[in-house]
Amino acid sequence: MPQDSDRSTGLIQRIWRSIVRGPLYPRDDRDRKWLVVNNLILHLRPIRLPRRSLKFTHTWGLGGIAFVLILLLAATGVLMMFVYEPSTEGAYESIVLLQDRVLFGTMVRNVHHWSANFLILIVFLHLLRVYFTGGYQGARQFNWVIGLVLLFGVVASNFTGYLLPWDQLSYWAVTISTGMIAYVPFIGEWLREVVRGGAEIGQATLINFYTFHTTVIPVVLILFLAWHFWRVRKAHGVVYPRTVDGEDEESPEYVLTLPHLLVREVAVALALVAFVMVFALFFDAPLGDAANPGMSPNPAKAPWYFLGIQEMLLHFHPTFAVVIIPTAGLVALVLLPYLKYTDDSAGIWFMSRRGRRLALLATVTASIFTPLWIVMDEYWLNLTGWLAGVPSGISNGLLPTAVMAGGVALFYAMLKKIFSATRGEAIQATFVLLTVGFVILTVTGVWFRGAGMALVLP
Ligand code: HEM
Repeated sequence: MPQDSDRSTGLIQRIWRSIVRGPLYPRDDRDRKWLVVNNLILHLRPIRLPRRSLKFTHTWGLGGIAFVLILLLAATGVLMMFVYEPSTEGAYESIVLLQDRVLFGTMVRNVHHWSANFLILIVFLHLLRVYFTGGYQGARQFNWVIGLVLLFGVVASNFTGYLLPWDQLSYWAVTISTGMIAYVPFIGEWLREVVRGGAEIGQATLINFYTFHTTVIPVVLILFLAWHFWRVRKAHGVVYPRTVDGEDEESPEYVLTLPHLLVREVAVALALVAFVMVFALFFDAPLGDAANPGMSPNPAKAPWYFLGIQEMLLHFHPTFAVVIIPTAGLVALVLLPYLKYTDDSAGIWFMSRRGRRLALLATVTASIFTPLWIVMDEYWLNLTGWLAGVPSGISNGLLPTAVMAGGVALFYAMLKKIFSATRGEAIQATFVLLTVGFVILTVTGVWFRGAGMALVLP
């Protein structure tokens, strides 16, 4: 109990007091101690935090937004499990039933669908925020790796959910995506069969995906989310925000998490829920015709977050597009926090003034060269034709990959030589170059590919 005097008062009185007096507004040290030991929120948050960390534009609330979206997904997902039937005969019908016959069924499905898609976008933006504020350095290094597992989990969750409506869209998107697995050297065909639960997409695939979507992935996400938050707590909250000019406070002013952080988090969460609800009211989750394994739509596209990779398939040998380049990207992402940085830039957006300029230069460079290369490859470049006789793994795989890697290395060297960039600034600009390049590939796949995957205007 918070106060000794409470022992002498009645139960109702004590409960009433604890409601009206606190725990939001601790009055003295004893109150505060009670609050810290007994409060669930403060097991997850530091007790005090620098006032500057509260500034919305430091984190944009993205980690918290991701968490609220996950809660929305869990709530709407459980509701849909009461109606959904994981069988090839019943799945599509059960979704139609949910939409047409269940009170608020369409709304629940819409909220689930849009929350899942926003989540991928938000987690990606959160990753960028953490990277560009140096939130991966020092005590936070390993939390970056935990974050990557979360990212992988969120994408896997989205992908396994994609199949469940069993309509033309989902059936063929999953056919395309799982088809890509076959390009993994040596074990590709076997792995594809394991994922599909057979040679073709069918009942076994649906049960595999349903179990992963509703049980395995949520459990993994819950465990890693708890670990992620605990690591943030252990690092004393988010990285301390600093300015490029170094006019940082000598001794930062600290405020109590309760209520200062909590009211902000609740405000963002409420605004988010309202936004998703309104969005779901106006935009329905897509539902095509029932799956027809005999009729492939044209173009047949993977889910949007895999379209960057599907786009690469049009330019590189499949083993490079699906396995080697994505694996290299993933390894680079894992290693990012462990590279040797000379700058002390934690908490400063884009490290320094030069860091900002070079990030902009990288954005412009990628925005020119990526579309140029896509168009050139579509209309002019014909490596397999020009180098007929050379195995396509070399002419269309090793060769363009080496040219691309050479271009990136040249860019890095130029940053150091011409712009006297520090190691950290050069790595950051290279990261921007590759990220913007990948985003442009994804945008091309989503809006600029039509029938036969030909380049078209949207
Ligand atoms: C389901 C996905 C995720 C959720 C719900 C989540 C949630 C959070 C939250 C609530 C914070 C506290 C500050 C904030 O709001 O920004 C945070 C911090 C952090 N997150 Fe995540 N996160 C997720 C994914 C990721 C990913 C993909 C990465 C990076 C690869 C990552 C790396 C980090 C790091 C390093 C911090 C500490 C940053 C700092 O101290 O400034 N997280 N995360």
